[in-house]
Amino acid sequence: MQEIKKYVEENKERFLEELFELLRFPSVSADPKYKGDVLKTADFVAQKLREAGADQVEVCQTAGYPIVYGEKIVDASLPTVLVYGHYDVQPADPLELWHTPPFEPTVREGKIYARGACDDKGQFYMHVKAFELMMQTNTLACNVKFMIEGEEEVGSNNLSIFVKENAERLKADVVLISDTSMISMENPSIETGLRGLAYMEVEVVGPNRDLHSGVYGGAVANPATILCKMIASLHDENNHITIPEFYDKVVELSDEEKKALNSAPFDLEDYKQDLNINAEWGEKGYSTLERTGTRPTLEVNGIWSGYTGEGAKTVLPSKANAKISMRLVPNQSSKEIAAIFTKHFESIAPDNVTVKVTEHHGGEPVVTPTDSVAYRAAEQAIADSFGKKPIPTRGGGSIPIVALFEEELGIKSVLFGFGLDSDALHSPNEKYDVFNYYKGIETLPLFHKYFAELSK
Ligand code: BES
Ligand code: MN
Ligand code: MN
Repeated sequence: MQEIKKYVEENKERFLEELFELLRFPSVSADPKYKGDVLKTADFVAQKLREAGADQVEVCQTAGYPIVYGEKIVDASLPTVLVYGHYDVQPADPLELWHTPPFEPTVREGKIYARGACDDKGQFYMHVKAFELMMQTNTLACNVKFMIEGEEEVGSNNLSIFVKENAERLKADVVLISDTSMISMENPSIETGLRGLAYMEVEVVGPNRDLHSGVYGGAVANPATILCKMIASLHDENNHITIPEFYDKVVELSDEEKKALNSAPFDLEDYKQDLNINAEWGEKGYSTLERTGTRPTLEVNGIWSGYTGEGAKTVLPSKANAKISMRLVPNQSSKEIAAIFTKHFESIAPDNVTVKVTEHHGGEPVVTPTDSVAYRAAEQAIADSFGKKPIPTRGGGSIPIVALFEEELGIKSVLFGFGLDSDALHSPNEKYDVFNYYKGIETLPLFHKYFAELSK
């Protein structure tokens, strides 16, 4: 532990400067305009893995953005840790809400502000630096494989293919991922579940062109109004989702599980204050932690129709659109849910419009074990470095590839995240605490140490 702290202390500035270099690449996978930057980011990550001491470093081409692979096999008899992360980021819009530009990382009050600071560049880069530390101090206790992808934020489609085709090369005893949150630095925690996702787009079409709202209004159905009504009908007065069969496979938590989940430190007043809302919302009969951790949900991500420019234009729009996603919990399948959504949405459309539903990417929910050697290693590593045993929690976000690692490779994951829910992931002014970055670099070598010890 002393040796680890000393190495981090001596290399602090460089560790931060390197992360800044990584954050300066606008590696937005969703927007083709950044293609060149995304590709450069992959090369940068590969270079840093080489410098840290990884062998077989390769920028693996796919039909989309490349996957960066590297490994250090010390001894075939040692356990192998597969580190997964993503070097792509979400779009930075709306740009005008950023206090400093998203791709010019800046430290204010001990926090690094940049798109990707927490999700996931700041977090996966801790593994690269922890690996460097273990190489330099001759303390690498496990074999390590790195797989850093560039399409997580757009559904990891090509990674799925890569994983299937490279099962042998990716053989490992655990997948270690830092791409989730902790409750706080005072209350360290480990997420033990991720929700799945079914992402849909809907279009409601009325007349064959935008119409004069005076000449035709009142006599022709307005697709914007119809779409709003259809969307509003998807929740009932208890905020329960109304789609038939939607909850059929959802398992209720036992009273014991509920108790454990709700015993995690959580202050509803702080929560509301942080978001500047007067009241929380959600499915009747469930607490906020249950709603985000264990219940499926349906959200409108975006909605558009008609005239939205400056001033006023009197128009009855020809069509209206929305992007709608559903978060899924264990036993729900994204394909099945997409299908029942489509069927239901088509069925509630009135005769005066036509409806088109298309399916975007999806992903399956996962629950990770808390009785595995890997979980115990993570628990011990945190206990050592934070002086406190971590609390297991259920995360609300999704990392679809985690379920696939289980299915295709037969490997379970440990969600070893050091972010905070308040880090503004996907929002303007995303941040990552400098403290958390260094803390992660200090904690990860302990995981490797305990994983090797406990695997014996
Ligand atoms: N790192 C997040 C997921 C996450 C965040 C999990 C916080 C737990 C806590 C990941 O990059 C992400 O944003 N995933 C997307 C899904 C993807 C298919 C676009 C999500 O959850 O919306
Ligand atoms: Mn992420
Ligand atoms: Mn993300």
